[in-house]
Amino acid sequence: MEKQGVRADNLLLGLPAMTAPTDREPDTAAEPAGDSRSLTDRLPSELAGRVQSARLAGGVATIVFDASGVAADKRGQLETAIRDMLGEVDGVAEVRVAMTADRAPDASSDETAVPAAAKPKRTMIAIGSGKGGVGKSTLTSNLAVALARRGVKVGVVDADIYGPSQPTLLATKDAKPVARGKQLQPVTSPHGVTLLSMGHLVAADKAIAWRGPMAGNALAQLIEADWGEAELLLVDLPPGTGDVQLSMLQRFKPDGAVIVSTPQDLALIDAKRAMQLFETGGVPMLGMVENMAGYECPHCHEISDPFGRGGAEDAARESGLDMLGRVPLAIEIREAGDAGVPPALSDGPQGLAFAAIADALAAKLGLEPVRETAP
Ligand SMILES: Nc1ncnc2c1ncn2[C@@H]1O[C@H](COP(=O)(O)OP(=O)(O)OP(=O)(O)O)[C@@H](O)[C@H]1O
Ligand SMILES: [Mg+2]
Repeated sequence: MEKQGVRADNLLLGLPAMTAPTDREPDTAAEPAGDSRSLTDRLPSELAGRVQSARLAGGVATIVFDASGVAADKRGQLETAIRDMLGEVDGVAEVRVAMTADRAPDASSDETAVPAAAKPKRTMIAIGSGKGGVGKSTLTSNLAVALARRGVKVGVVDADIYGPSQPTLLATKDAKPVARGKQLQPVTSPHGVTLLSMGHLVAADKAIAWRGPMAGNALAQLIEADWGEAELLLVDLPPGTGDVQLSMLQRFKPDGAVIVSTPQDLALIDAKRAMQLFETGGVPMLGMVENMAGYECPHCHEISDPFGRGGAEDAARESGLDMLGRVPLAIEIREAGDAGVPPALSDGPQGLAFAAIADALAAKLGLEPVRETAP
């Protein structure tokens, strides 16, 4: 332990003060209190104060760490130190660390070699499910809009190269991205979100019949585009948990993942496959969203559960994942998606459901809301 203490102290020398000091306790509420608290307690107080959430489940410790103001070259060392310290805790077989992005780049950080504008720090979060059609794309577009309403600069990458839907959901079907140098410039939706999708580059009626490596390169063009000021990139993953998805995760290394599932058993089996995929890819899971949870009849207003009830919550608990929230099955959500007017734009019941999930995600990522009104 002495070696690790020295190492952490060295790393902490020159660690800038938090840009947004927080007195928030680490998020340990949904966890067996002893386990997750003991994880944070094993870190020096300077590091413990930056832990956004700590979770221990099935021998896997997942830490979301606020890396505000930490220079890029020190982040890797910090991550290793946290891994080493927590790897010693009883019952921990593996440690996963998600470093969150800066809210405001620190001018004093020693990143002078790379101009901030050329390489801004940003957090990449993948939205995945395993099963198709459970609402990944709908959730991605609405989360993006809800977070943009809170003042977060959000970009959306539509990683569903073969079946892109973000141009429709975010009302940019006719937009054509231009390239500056070798980089694509994202298009801007009317809802304050920037995005890129293969749907912007290929005409809707042209089938895409690429082999895996070509699709991978196309995706790289989208992810490595000029995302400008975006501090958060939400990546709408294609359905499935095969090699294509795994190599995508390993190549682009998202900082975290959100799992979407319906409450139905079949979808949950696939959600568990998606969890395994993220585990294999080394992507920390930030939580689960239950979509199509409860249906309110527009005529009699009786609530029924066409896809079951509470299944996602049970699966999340079993896997030690937080529930980030649930979205009802509502015809308005489908209609709004088709019309390119995400419900998260307004404060109706569906909008509020997405807003609550956005708040939960923002809290996990240390993205403080700065504005609550529409952009
Ligand atoms: N909560 C909801 N209520 C009603 N309809 C919904 C809801 N969520 C999604 N839908 C509808 O279900 C369909 C599938 O949703 P979506 O495209 O978001 O799923 P997906 O997981 O991205 O699918 P894919 O795997 O094909 O990419 C869409 O028509 C969408 O409008
Ligand atoms: Mg989709």
